[in-house]
Amino acid sequence: MAIKFAPLKISALQATLSKVKTDLLVVGLFESSKKTTKEIDQLDEVTGGAIRSVLKSNDYKASLNETLFIYPTSTKGPKRVLLIGLGAKNDFDLNRCRRAASVIVRECQKTGIKSIAMDIHDLIPEKFNRKDIGQAIAEGLHFGRYDYFDHLPEKAKAKQPIKVTVIDSLAEQVKTLSQGIRIGDKIGAGQNICRHIANQPGNEIHPPELARVCQRVAKQNNLRCKVFNKRQLTDMKMNAILAVGKGSEHEPRLISLEHKGKSKGGPDVVLVGKAITFDTGGISLKPGLGMQDMKFDKSGGCAVIGIMAAVAQLKLKLNVVGLVTSAENMPAHNSYRPGDIIKTYSGKTVEIHNTDAEGRMVLADALWYGAKMKPKIMIDMATLTGACAVALGSHYAGLFTPDNKLASQLEKSGQASGEPVWRLPVGPEYGNEMKSTIADLKNVADRWGGASNAAAFLQEFVGDTPWAHIDIAGSIVNTSEKPYAATGSNGYAVRLIVDYLRHF
Ligand code: BES
Ligand code: ZN
Ligand code: ZN
Repeated sequence: MAIKFAPLKISALQATLSKVKTDLLVVGLFESSKKTTKEIDQLDEVTGGAIRSVLKSNDYKASLNETLFIYPTSTKGPKRVLLIGLGAKNDFDLNRCRRAASVIVRECQKTGIKSIAMDIHDLIPEKFNRKDIGQAIAEGLHFGRYDYFDHLPEKAKAKQPIKVTVIDSLAEQVKTLSQGIRIGDKIGAGQNICRHIANQPGNEIHPPELARVCQRVAKQNNLRCKVFNKRQLTDMKMNAILAVGKGSEHEPRLISLEHKGKSKGGPDVVLVGKAITFDTGGISLKPGLGMQDMKFDKSGGCAVIGIMAAVAQLKLKLNVVGLVTSAENMPAHNSYRPGDIIKTYSGKTVEIHNTDAEGRMVLADALWYGAKMKPKIMIDMATLTGACAVALGSHYAGLFTPDNKLASQLEKSGQASGEPVWRLPVGPEYGNEMKSTIADLKNVADRWGGASNAAAFLQEFVGDTPWAHIDIAGSIVNTSEKPYAATGSNGYAVRLIVDYLRHF
């Protein structure tokens, strides 16, 4: 698979709105406020009063993400104006700004517009720092821009390069806006790498192919990449990863991506991502309905890849190791089975009660491997349980950690990045339910509290490393096309974790 996106160039420019020559000028407005800026009024004049008459008519309410194209009769200003609603001014935050940017770019893609000038930040209250706004705009533009068209060449070809210019009349603000844009550019690109890999179907991406993709991403971003194949995993006794991968014609892989942002010391943070390239459930086969979405069971690993790319591009002064633990969970004559007892890399034994609880198995070995590096913090992300998706739906990911400080930092990053997490319990009550009578652990408990049981199982493999687990099972796909996003992977956890690392 190739990771190449139709170009999107974003820059900030000092200019007067009414004098900008562009295919499209985007202006942001708040709901139930007829307030405009002097800039917008001047623009209104050159466009023959079109904006004023729209606002007067009350047909357009500037409610959240409400758009309206205006085609001025005068030729003095821009060819088109797009109004974008920012909703109520008091409810405004950076997430709304990010999403508005996504809507804008998707609206423009419907037409053949190749250059956009935008001013959505002018009415935004001063308390929002222009650097953060620049970042949110860039992240949102990249997010909205992405489509998975690898198998629709006509649609892929129709995606023209787009140039976006963020306009401001003050030189000082242009400077801060562009600093933010540069950051958002990198995070947005990292997120789209994650989404693009996650969107690949199981017949095109399996663990060895995923490892090759990682090597390519590593090369492009100056990361160190190590790949452990089946023979090496066998030598290291990583029997849990091997067990899950046994029934597949494609061997499992453990992949490590390393960013060295400072010369001294070991890893500050180890990230671990579940990458089951397809989860049939194995011998404990899943029901058929909706099984196609199990190609997204590699999303935790894909998030780690996207995060590592962004971390490298941002040149964070941290040492970060990303581990991608990958297998294909298939039913076959040689698959691992219910009743099997597996001796994991840590030495702990696990009695298999359900081969569909495979994520915690591949994570067990990778977490132990990560813990051995003695990082300051270890965070894993995984599409781990249907139970977490039932509890939280798609709007929050589940956060499990015994560490209150780490929890509040991740909650804060979740709010800031627009990828929020909601804390759920993990602890000995849930851990006790994972004990087996004939091995150290079993891989499932009963139905109730399944997300916390899974987290407690993982905790058995982190030693005393400060650790958090993020269950993204419910939050990683857009099931239908939205005004702000294409169907498919949304790259959840990339912005969240990059924000956490930037404030580490
Ligand atoms: N990959 C699934 C979890 C999942 C479910 C992700 C729905 C996304 C959407 C995981 O491997 C799994 O099958 N978990 C089981 C665990 C059970 C057997 C204890 C589940 O949640 O049903
Ligand atoms: Zn499963
Ligand atoms: Zn799974």
